[in-house]
Amino acid sequence: MTARGTPIGVLISGRGSNLRAVAQAITDGALDARISIVVSNQPDAPGLAWAREAGLATAVVAHRDHATRADYDEALAGALTSHGATWVCLAGFMRVVGPGFCAAFPNAIVNVHPSLLPAFPGLDAQRQAFEHGVTVTGATVHLVTPELDAGPIVAQAAVPVLAHDTVETLRARILVEEHRLLPAALQRLLTTRWSIDGRRIRFEE
Ligand code: GRF
Repeated sequence: MTARGTPIGVLISGRGSNLRAVAQAITDGALDARISIVVSNQPDAPGLAWAREAGLATAVVAHRDHATRADYDEALAGALTSHGATWVCLAGFMRVVGPGFCAAFPNAIVNVHPSLLPAFPGLDAQRQAFEHGVTVTGATVHLVTPELDAGPIVAQAAVPVLAHDTVETLRARILVEEHRLLPAALQRLLTTRWSIDGRRIRFEE
């Protein structure tokens, strides 16, 4: 990872494949950022081990160590700001962040969600879509606001549901798109001029 670019904090809860996609985009010169800290709410998240191996700073902020959501938000924000992060990327992070956390990084938090929001917010969106019988689903990158999965949309990618799909084959196909969409959306936010107009993000390019 180069030392130049916007310092970003990446929040994970598990495998961290989206974290790896962000790191790869930086290495490839496709994302003008640097990962200043990887934080997980899960001490044993496999993505933390990968981050340490990659020489990245890591921290654990476990939700069970904080009595209130406000305390948790403050601790999480502190772990990021203490490592200089000015942008935050939720990459497979399975906790809802509250108003206090959002206020610490105004319009500077993105999340990747494995459906075409506003369809199928919340947990296991891939299974929700599959069981609903949609023929097209996908992935969304959006700005994070205190309302779950509801912030202004930055980018989306459509993914077809094929006749012989299972939830798992669909999940895998969506994940490929997430790995492309998240770094690309971050790069656009970090390197072009944009503004928020109601629910829309207007890019000036
Ligand atoms: C991804 O599909 C992400 O959209 C969802 O969790 C899955 C795992 O992400 N929130 P990762 O492999 O930990 O990045």
